[in-house]
Amino acid sequence: MPNKPKVLVTGSSGLIGGVLIRACSDAYEFSGLDMAKPDSAPDIPTLVTDVAELDAILPAFEGVDAVVHLAADPNMHGEWDTVLHNNFITTYNVFEAAKRAGVKRVVYASSNHAVGMWELEGPSGRIREGDYSGLEPGGFKMIDNTVQIRPDGYYGIGKAFGEATGAYYSDNFGLEVACLRIGTVSRDDDPKANVRMKATWLSHRDAAHLIERCLAVEGLKFEIFYGVSDNTWRFWDIEHAKNYLGYSPQDNAQDHWPEG
Ligand SMILES: NC(=O)c1ccc[n+]([C@@H]2O[C@H](COP(=O)([O-])OP(=O)(O)OC[C@H]3O[C@@H](n4cnc5c(N)ncnc54)[C@H](O)[C@@H]3O)[C@@H](O)[C@H]2O)c1
Repeated sequence: MPNKPKVLVTGSSGLIGGVLIRACSDAYEFSGLDMAKPDSAPDIPTLVTDVAELDAILPAFEGVDAVVHLAADPNMHGEWDTVLHNNFITTYNVFEAAKRAGVKRVVYASSNHAVGMWELEGPSGRIREGDYSGLEPGGFKMIDNTVQIRPDGYYGIGKAFGEATGAYYSDNFGLEVACLRIGTVSRDDDPKANVRMKATWLSHRDAAHLIERCLAVEGLKFEIFYGVSDNTWRFWDIEHAKNYLGYSPQDNAQDHWPEG
């Protein structure tokens, strides 16, 4: 395709970076930014440096149309020191570098853990433990993009900081920002690792499709979407992503469990 949009992926050597780049290279010209050298990740031009170093990362943002910001310590139990360095400082740097370079759009990998305390209550509190008694799939109020921020750890606080930073750069500098509260993406793409994944699984192909929709949708200002497949027992709302982005997930964790 001639004149493909140029997209910088931070965290390009990681799991979701690899999934995205492999799935969407026909439509986008990707470059990477990661402190780890790409190995199994697809072969794209990559700046290998710590995203916490603002001056070092600025050149990677020149001339790109959009940034997918994935670089972070993804450990939901991460201690303050690693979250501060790899999630807070990196995320400020990415929004600031995007602004300075005149990048139009940032797709930010937030997390369900920005609002993780909601999940422990009500129907989701039982579904996450595999207790479906008296419940109908979808027959209860989903946790949606309007709920109050309720992080369940420093990692979740860092993701809420990223959403807040995105809102600030959108309101004040016109940056277009999509925040994805991603569920669970696993290396083997198998939702049977634990019963919570029946609700929270985001398959590789649905993850790539969802990020692609965030890159492509017209008229974006600032929005928050949940990143989860079309799981029978999901408790996060995907109607907003379906209506706004045209998100059309193909997978359902239920289909992978022996009982169907
Ligand atoms: N995998 C999931 O289930 C999941 C769920 C919710 C949110 N997320 C978020 O999605 C993003 C990608 O997750 P993933 O599963 O691909 O993780 P990953 O660990 O596979 O990839 C993250 C990448 O970021 C890089 N990185 C980390 N800190 C960096 C720094 N300071 N400078 C430069 N590079 C740095 C790592 O080297 C790694 O390649 C993360 O922000 C994570 O918090 C993931």
